[in-house]
Amino acid sequence: MKSNEKYWINHSGSNWKSEVEKRRPRMNIYQTQENSILHYIETLQDSNIKVLDFGCGYGRHLKNVSEIISEENLFAVDISAKMSEPAKEFCKNINIIEPLGKLPFDDGYFDVVYSSNVLIHISPDDVGGVVQEIKRCIKDGGILIQCETIAEKTVGGFDASHNGSWAHDLKSLYQNLGIDIISIETQQDKKDREIVFMTSRKVQNAI
Ligand SMILES: C[S@@+](CC[C@H](N)C(=O)[O-])C[C@H]1O[C@@H](n2cnc3c(N)ncnc32)[C@H](O)[C@@H]1O
Repeated sequence: MKSNEKYWINHSGSNWKSEVEKRRPRMNIYQTQENSILHYIETLQDSNIKVLDFGCGYGRHLKNVSEIISEENLFAVDISAKMSEPAKEFCKNINIIEPLGKLPFDDGYFDVVYSSNVLIHISPDDVGGVVQEIKRCIKDGGILIQCETIAEKTVGGFDASHNGSWAHDLKSLYQNLGIDIISIETQQDKKDREIVFMTSRKVQNAI
C-alpha cells in the first residue's frame, strides 16, 4: 500500500475533525466548500436525486447534505473505515473501498457526485483512473462537484506531512475525460482552492 493511502487508513476521523476545527479560523475555504456543495445540491430542487460523497472522511459535508437528501438516496465511500466512522451518524450507506478499485455502483447510478480535498491526496499516476471511475457512476447529464487545490499552487507546509499531496491540472484532466466544466470559482485563501462544478451541456442549459 502507498504511504498516502496508509496515512488515511490509519487516521482517526474524530482526530481529523479536531484538526479541521483547529485550522478553520485560518481556512475560510472550509466554510465556502460546505456552503457551495449544499447550495448547489439545493438548487437542483429535487430531494429524490441520488448523491454520492466520494472520500467522505468524518462526514463534514454529509452532516449538511443529509438534511436535504433522504437517507436511502445518500451514499458515501472512503478508503478508511477509521476516518469515516463518525460519518455513520449522517449516512447509512457508507462503503469502504480499495484506493484504486472499482466503485460498487452501476454505471450512471448517481445524479450528483461531490468530493472535497480528496484528489489532492491521490498521486498524479492514479488520479485519472479515479476520476474516470467516478464519472462512470454519474448518469448522463449528472453533476460532479469538486473542491480541490489549483494546479498552479505548490503544495507544501503541513500538506507535505500527509505523505503525499499533489495539486493536479484538473481542467485538462476533465477535458480529456470529456467532462464539461460549467463553473469554476476560486477563493483567495492562504491556499487558493478551486470549486469546480461540472456537468453535461444539457444540464448546464437548464440551470
Ligand atoms: C482531507 S480528508 C477530506 C474528507 C472530506 N471529504 C472533507 O472534505 O472533510 C481526505 C479523505 O479522502 C479519503 N481518501 C483518500 N484517498 C482516497 C481514494 N483513493 N478514494 C476514496 N477516498 C480517499 C481519506 O481516507 C480521507 O477520509
